[in-house]
Amino acid sequence: MHYDADVFAGFPAYYGNAYSHWASNLSGTGRMTTEPHYKPRDWASQPPYRYAGYKSTALRGPTRPLVPLKQTLSELTGPVYGHESVGPLDNDLTKNGVKDGEPLGERIVVTGRVLDENGRPVPDALIEIWQANAAGRYIHEVDQHDAPLDPNFFGGGRCVTDGEGHYRFYSVRPGAYPWGNHHNAWRPNHIHLSLFGAALPARLVTQMFFPGDPLLDLDPIYQGVAEGARERLVSAFSIDVTEPDFALGYVFDIVLRGRGATPMEG
Ligand SMILES: [Fe+2]
Repeated sequence: MHYDADVFAGFPAYYGNAYSHWASNLSGTGRMTTEPHYKPRDWASQPPYRYAGYKSTALRGPTRPLVPLKQTLSELTGPVYGHESVGPLDNDLTKNGVKDGEPLGERIVVTGRVLDENGRPVPDALIEIWQANAAGRYIHEVDQHDAPLDPNFFGGGRCVTDGEGHYRFYSVRPGAYPWGNHHNAWRPNHIHLSLFGAALPARLVTQMFFPGDPLLDLDPIYQGVAEGARERLVSAFSIDVTEPDFALGYVFDIVLRGRGATPMEG
């Protein structure tokens, strides 16, 4: 049995001690945003809470209509992560888990922008990253997939967007892995991403996929998002981002709200 987003969506719990350390280093700048209110979520671009093909949603998805909570100042202000609290290797998964050599696999560099519904860049957004190693195995006790762990690959990292909303991280391409959703179920290659925007209460979680992956057509998590929106979860290969003799480049822009919003996990 293999589990997925349900378990691993909780990056901070997974890397609990490290997260506590980071949290204690919050910049506490209390930055105000000029956005008076977040627009309601555009559900046409978001996956339903319950999707028959994705079995665990039947257990965790709400069965009654949601009770909307009024937005408060807490979603717009409050402590944010500062660039000074992110270490120099935090955005390089090919180096931050090294013990006695380099991690195995195909090196990649992933970059893009975090944007709001009006196409404006979102600066200072913390992006947390977690993923399987090149063999399709997570460092997690729940993951008992019969594939090797990589002693030089931790599988987690983070970065912060710059003033123009740009982010960038290095890693290795994650492998596909089986999961217990249905017979012969395999997750496509993917990277989990968590974003904190204007303030810590505003957290979003999503997954980035790779172009041309044949498993996308069979994946209930990907297929659970409406056609026309699910394609936003697929990164684009870029020869311009690709670094000669080093790593293949992929571009993945993340739109937080609006009709062009990146689909997020409920
Ligand atoms: Fe996963």
